[in-house]
Amino acid sequence: MNKIKKAVEILEKYNQSHIKVETEEIADQILNIDFEQLQELYDQATNQDVIKDIENIEPVKAINPMKLEKETLDEYIKLGENEVKSGKFAIAIMAGGQGSRLGHKGPKGTFEIELNSKTKSLFEIIVDKLKSAQKKYGIPINCYIMTSPENNSETIAFFEKMDYFGYPKQYIKFFKQGELPLLDKEGKLIIGENGLIKLASDGNGGIFYSMAKNGIIDNMKKKNIEWVFIGSVDNLLVKYVDTLLLGLAIKQHVKIATRTIIKNSPYEKVGVLCKKNGKVKVIEYTEIPKKMRFAVDENGEMIYGESHIMCNLYSIEAIEKASTKELKYHVAEKKVQYINKEGKLVTPEKENCYKFEKFIFDSFCLFDEIAILRGKREEDFAPIKNKEGADSPETAKKLYEEYLAKNV
Ligand code: UTP
Repeated sequence: MNKIKKAVEILEKYNQSHIKVETEEIADQILNIDFEQLQELYDQATNQDVIKDIENIEPVKAINPMKLEKETLDEYIKLGENEVKSGKFAIAIMAGGQGSRLGHKGPKGTFEIELNSKTKSLFEIIVDKLKSAQKKYGIPINCYIMTSPENNSETIAFFEKMDYFGYPKQYIKFFKQGELPLLDKEGKLIIGENGLIKLASDGNGGIFYSMAKNGIIDNMKKKNIEWVFIGSVDNLLVKYVDTLLLGLAIKQHVKIATRTIIKNSPYEKVGVLCKKNGKVKVIEYTEIPKKMRFAVDENGEMIYGESHIMCNLYSIEAIEKASTKELKYHVAEKKVQYINKEGKLVTPEKENCYKFEKFIFDSFCLFDEIAILRGKREEDFAPIKNKEGADSPETAKKLYEEYLAKNV
């Protein structure tokens, strides 16, 4: 049977016949979609499983470096530094997101911000951190960049154009994450401006599987890399070469570690850490039950305030283990442009689509122990999420410039 005919049959079977299979390209897309899975995800989207059972949930304990003896802190940092110097440490930047809230045209890492009168892209800010580490530790650190099928070529072209910001090119490697179709509120596939079924990256939790699929884990092993810091592209203050977190993980003999900060209010849009059935878990702000959101201790402190800020350290064994496990999908509602039945481009005013994403932190529960290090907001967290208001270029710039003024 020819491809087009087969694709039409599949669409009929799954109630998606509004899609016209006019080219082989669109037929290929359809043949590659797992419609059973998509159906399940749609059912999940329309029946949001907000965590209701908080029975077996308890708070986590984070290590506060302010409360550690100076010798202990120095010991951890030394351990971390030695690991970096031995070339066993790498970083991975999650740069496959759509940055839909920021609305920047192009990969989010190419977004530019003026800092102390110099304009830099988010990618350059991270590479600068690698350059400082190279100077300090005497060796270049391997850097892996996860892109999406949508922004991959643009990201690579950007690095080429900027001559890798002066960092040795052979230490930077790109790999693509996976993607899934978007569904409208009726569970229907939608068509994008290019006339094809609209797909979107499958969330930052897709990183482990994508690393395995693209030979990144093998590449790391060949280079004797033992630890990888996995961070986001949009937090100006993220410490990519976090020797304290690394030393702590080594000392505690754990396979993963994360740096947190305390939530600034019950309403801040960050996920919080807790333990469920004894395993560390992050509950996204969209999913946290009221009872947990507002719970305070006898001093009025939030009991579930330890926030996940995408500062994650994984041993290579942990990455390998996570790459073999199926992380669950979460549902997000997004505003997505599409081509309607009349062939016109529609720009919706409110959320019109379901997007399915895996979250990196869902890998935490695969491990018995995680080292949790509490950072400080003013030193660790200056995210750029929105065009304006909270977590915008303006707030991030202010936080970063204040940090530089105190720390350089
Ligand atoms: P967010 O979940 O905040 O998404 O990503 P985003 O793409 O920046 O922005 P919105 O939600 O569309 O407005 C946190 C980090 O995870 C990466 C992002 O690039 C960012 O570094 N990410 C997110 C991926 O690498 N892939 C994804 O599929 C999603």
